Amino acid sequence: MSSLHNTNPSLVLNNGVKMPALGLGVFLTPADQTAGAVSTAIQSGYRLIDTAAAYLNERAVGEGIRNSGVPREEIFITTKLWPGQYGYDEALRGFNGSLSRLGVDYVDLYLLHWPVPTDFGATVQAYKAIEKLRTGGRIRAIGVCNFLPRHLRSLQEETGLTPSVNQIELNPFYTQPETRAANAERGIVTQAWAPIGGTYLRNRKAVTNGAETPLKHPLITGLAGKYGKTPAQVVIRWHLDHGFSAIPKSVHKERIVENFDVFDFALTAEEISRIDALDTGVRAGGNPETFTANSYPTDVDAQ
Ligand SMILES: NC(=O)c1ccc[n+]([C@@H]2O[C@H](COP(=O)([O-])OP(=O)(O)OC[C@H]3O[C@@H](n4cnc5c(N)ncnc54)[C@H](OP(=O)(O)O)[C@@H]3O)[C@@H](O)[C@H]2O)c1
Repeated sequence: MSSLHNTNPSLVLNNGVKMPALGLGVFLTPADQTAGAVSTAIQSGYRLIDTAAAYLNERAVGEGIRNSGVPREEIFITTKLWPGQYGYDEALRGFNGSLSRLGVDYVDLYLLHWPVPTDFGATVQAYKAIEKLRTGGRIRAIGVCNFLPRHLRSLQEETGLTPSVNQIELNPFYTQPETRAANAERGIVTQAWAPIGGTYLRNRKAVTNGAETPLKHPLITGLAGKYGKTPAQVVIRWHLDHGFSAIPKSVHKERIVENFDVFDFALTAEEISRIDALDTGVRAGGNPETFTANSYPTDVDAQ
């Protein structure tokens, strides 16, 4: 076993901040199960937790971190600003809400949750506000989610700024080569949401010969057999071997542990290419071309 694969790699962001490559996501983790999942993950070795104002569980994420027994400075906390709070002053208010719910005095990574192409001016103002918070030391790095190449271009033109991270829907069934290339050209780290296939499975069955999740595809199950690992571990390894960050979600202790037990093997270049070829070009989540705050109505202020 190569020592290269023995630990969770760190990715160095374009402002020098180090981010663990593998973390825990908590979208759709019910608030009353979130603190337990977060402290279980941290005690199992995770050091990155990915939440959002819109997940309505930031308070429980803060509680799980405090319960874990690991100092806050050793944990990389990501949270996100919801489009309903875009605009400069709204973004500053939205950030303060997240900080106070998490119970921390800074976050490691703060992301715009979606582009809003029909009101890109508000998206730009929100980004300027979070850059101001970053330079003031309350955020260590900033970035975006779900930005297509043209959104990255527009943001750069209007702000002169390059995000550190673009968190996008990414797994063997939806590999987004153009957006990944646009990220790489700019030195932006690609972070995968729905890394093992996601919580939404709609749209898929028709185009993947019935395998509605990559975890059931014969190529993935075959590689799992070859390496003595599980399908989820093979898919997470595919992300890490590509140099992506990935944030799989689970509420189950055994899966949280399983998803982190991926540092004792690596896929070959040929296996990585064969998994790349499973791309269907069909997304399961929201569409960044048409997204607005009403795409998933969420009252982030009410929490
Ligand atoms: N920026 C964005 O717009 C955006 C959008 C969506 C998600 N995200 C982030 O990305 C994270 C991950 O995405 P996701 O939660 O949609 O999808 P995911 O992590 O790919 O998949 C989670 C699903 O897989 C199950 N699962 C977990 N580990 C498993 C294993 N080892 N074997 C079999 N099934 C397993 C989970 O069920 P159990 O919980 O029952 O184990 C859950 O149903 C989110 O939690 C969130 O933090 C961001």
